[in-house]
Amino acid sequence: MTIEIPSVLTKEQVAKVRQELDATDWVDGSTTAGGQAAKTKDNLQLPTDNPIGEQIGASIIKILTTHPLFVSAALPLHFLPPMFNKYAGGGSFGTHVDNAIRHIPQTGQRIRTDLSATLFLSEPDEYEGGVLNIEDTYGTQEVKLPAGHLILYPSTSLHHVTPVTSGARVSSFFWIQSMIRDNAQRSLLFDLDCSIQRLSQELDGIEAAEQSSVQLTGVYHNLIRQWAEM
Ligand code: NI
Repeated sequence: MTIEIPSVLTKEQVAKVRQELDATDWVDGSTTAGGQAAKTKDNLQLPTDNPIGEQIGASIIKILTTHPLFVSAALPLHFLPPMFNKYAGGGSFGTHVDNAIRHIPQTGQRIRTDLSATLFLSEPDEYEGGVLNIEDTYGTQEVKLPAGHLILYPSTSLHHVTPVTSGARVSSFFWIQSMIRDNAQRSLLFDLDCSIQRLSQELDGIEAAEQSSVQLTGVYHNLIRQWAEM
């Protein structure tokens, strides 16, 4: 299941981030991809120890950890610090699957990549191409979102980015280890949480409905108790 998280950054925040990123040095992106993925990767990337990138990445994580829709969809345990890439001049990234295990560069801590995230930092009309294609159980999804919006998808998916034939596509990308490892279980919990949120708004003041809502909330938490790993 792919989930769009709109407006993670405001347009003002995007403009500020872009200004900072545009003023810094980018390197060949193939240096950080796994062996097989590196062969098909043709883009630019910010070095992981770039202080500007570290600072922006930390603020992105701070925003997401208190973002109700993101938290509900990802049930995050650990984040890989966000990285940044730029596709231009025909640059693309061929079909690949992301590495299962990644190390946090600063600490060496290992993260299992359950979810992949792309935060778009260019508006769709700034570039041609650059579509993120994600193959999931429902077929291939084509993703090209407004700047500031984020797409969350299972790291088990094959995916690729089509060539950027004009302009430049800048984005942040990172991985999340979820408390809920299994995609199907995490999906169920997300659906359940969304339904409970809607019900509790619509049925506010109806006593029997409120009791059911409390019971369903109990089911939600008890499922997390059954399935969560820390
Ligand atoms: Ni990838």
